[in-house]
Amino acid sequence: MAVIEIIDLSRIYGKGEISVRALDGVNLSIERGEFVAVMGPSGSGKSTLMNIVGCLDRPTEGRYILDSVEVSEMSRAQLATIRNEQIGFIFQSYNLFNKATALKNVMAPMLYDRSRKRSNEEKEARAREVLISVGLEDRMEHEPTELSGGQQQRVAIARALVNDPAIILADEPTGNLDSRSGEEIMELMHELHQGGRTIVMVTHDASIAEHTERTIFLRDGRIERITKGGTVQETKEVASESV
Ligand SMILES: Nc1ncnc2c1ncn2[C@@H]1O[C@H](COP(=O)(O)OP(=O)(O)OP(=O)(O)O)[C@@H](O)[C@H]1O
Ligand SMILES: [Mg+2]
Repeated sequence: MAVIEIIDLSRIYGKGEISVRALDGVNLSIERGEFVAVMGPSGSGKSTLMNIVGCLDRPTEGRYILDSVEVSEMSRAQLATIRNEQIGFIFQSYNLFNKATALKNVMAPMLYDRSRKRSNEEKEARAREVLISVGLEDRMEHEPTELSGGQQQRVAIARALVNDPAIILADEPTGNLDSRSGEEIMELMHELHQGGRTIVMVTHDASIAEHTERTIFLRDGRIERITKGGTVQETKEVASESV
């Protein structure tokens, strides 16, 4: 069953003559557990689409149904709750708090989480666990300015994962990274996908998009075409085992 269902969706910024139709009648459904890439020229509406899917913004027209719940009509407060519980967002520019350690950054989403009644000790233990899972066990007390770009993005990924969301949205997660750090981030994304998460990722890099199951091409706010990524490329470990 589709976890993300988008029907005749448009997003218009501004009013009157200066209005911009950033998304224009988009129809799209994404299955649970899918790994999807979004490509398209600058200004084609990729980030606008991600922000709506991630409940950071609302459509002007049309419907968005997330996990069988109609979110297009929800209030900002309701959107914030859904976002915090179900969605992990990763940005090109990391968006970390620069005055807080990696540990505090990763704990931040749990501070708003009122549904799971965790003590501060439990929250810290959870943040440490996720930081270890992204390979940052020896950087937990460092602030972002003391970390490399790849490490900062791993902190951001840990923060996105800390509430165990079913959906990961990534808007050019490797855009600011050198190729080696970018590959490490992609390996992490593959692990998350293999762990059963649904992943939607914007990228300008066709070779990265090839690693996904489908690629959605946007142009002028519309879906121009959708290609199957072929068979999912195996990770290095799996590939060497099968030889
Ligand atoms: N807050 C805003 N107010 C007005 N127009 C906006 C706003 N945000 C985006 N736009 C416009 O909407 C269109 C789509 O922008 P969007 O950021 O979604 O593009 P994008 O595909 O993510 O581009 P890039 O690859 O450069 O990140 C662009 O024409 C942009 O100028
Ligand atoms: Mg963008």
